[in-house]
Amino acid sequence: KNSMHQKLIEMHEHAKSFFHHILVNTEVGKDAMAYLEKRGISREYIDEFELGFAPDNRDILLKVMQKEFKDGLFDESGLFVERDDGTFMDRFFNRVMFPIKDSKGKTIGFSGRQMPSIQSDTDKKQPKYLNSPETEIFNKREVIYNFHLARPHIRKTNEVYLFEGFMDVIASYMSGVKNAVATMGTSLTEQQIHRLERVCEDVTICYDGDSAGINATNRAVELLTQNTALGVQVVSLPNKLDPDDYRMVYGTESLEKELLHHKQTVFQFKRVYLMQDFNLENESDILTYLELVLKELAMIPSVIEKDFALTQLSEEFNLSKETLQLQLNQLIQD
Ligand code: GTP
Ligand code: MN
Ligand code: MN
Ligand code: MN
Ligand code: MN
Repeated sequence: KNSMHQKLIEMHEHAKSFFHHILVNTEVGKDAMAYLEKRGISREYIDEFELGFAPDNRDILLKVMQKEFKDGLFDESGLFVERDDGTFMDRFFNRVMFPIKDSKGKTIGFSGRQMPSIQSDTDKKQPKYLNSPETEIFNKREVIYNFHLARPHIRKTNEVYLFEGFMDVIASYMSGVKNAVATMGTSLTEQQIHRLERVCEDVTICYDGDSAGINATNRAVELLTQNTALGVQVVSLPNKLDPDDYRMVYGTESLEKELLHHKQTVFQFKRVYLMQDFNLENESDILTYLELVLKELAMIPSVIEKDFALTQLSEEFNLSKETLQLQLNQLIQD
């Protein structure tokens, strides 16, 4: 079994180098290179993340691998799909390739992003990002994108920034915030949390500002606060942007200084999150909202944060702080 793992990793490392070579050294990679340049990713970061390009051709990787690996594990690798007649073709084509690495930095899978070129109807049905399938070496619930590069920075800062997308991790990296990782487009799992717990004490969630991202933030907050001793903070994105969009609109320096360094407490996030469901012009909505908010506040251990929040709520809703405090005390006793 170990030699199979070894072989699969060798195949992925070879594919990674091949895709990277195509992107940076060949005519075939020119459009993908221009696309990345348009997205503000300079050569330095293309090299650091070893981005690549899979050409618009269904057997180019297959030929390369057949030559290199005489008894290659073509089926098991997930790099190919099988035709009805039992022959293989490349899984990834006409995509910008993000190698996904294990904690030692070895490539164990890929995610390929669709090119934005004029698309035929069949292309449109393809997913924006196509991931490797689950294999002997690739488990989506375990893998954390960029963990191997981020780990020393996570240890040093005792904190990790958690993003939704690969491009957001790269954007963060470019702004100098290198303790940055992402999950594989799925929600955070317990396995991933356990890996993070071993290297730091604080997590900052920095998901997309659209409603999917905000709801995912709420789920991640719940999972982290209920199951771990990790400290949790939130960076909220304005105007439905994601962190990479933010960098493109406001600049790389602003991403670090105006966004990533401005963290909310879990309570502040919840306070705003809960507002979505209510019309705060309406008195009965205000009462229900305040009850929910105070329930959240009752779970916050910090006395200072409680006092700060009560002052804020009392000003916002024109209620006496004493009244709010009484209600809060009741909830704490229950
Ligand atoms: P860009 O459009 O390149 O900036 O990507 P993004 O990272 O902003 O993508 P988005 O916010 O739509 O999705 C966040 C993450 O979800 C991506 O980085 C992927 O990991 C994943 N994802 C997005 N689209 C798909 C898809 O069609 N299929 C799968 N399996 N995953 C996806
Ligand atoms: Mn290189
Ligand atoms: Mn999104
Ligand atoms: Mn996004
Ligand atoms: Mn994006």
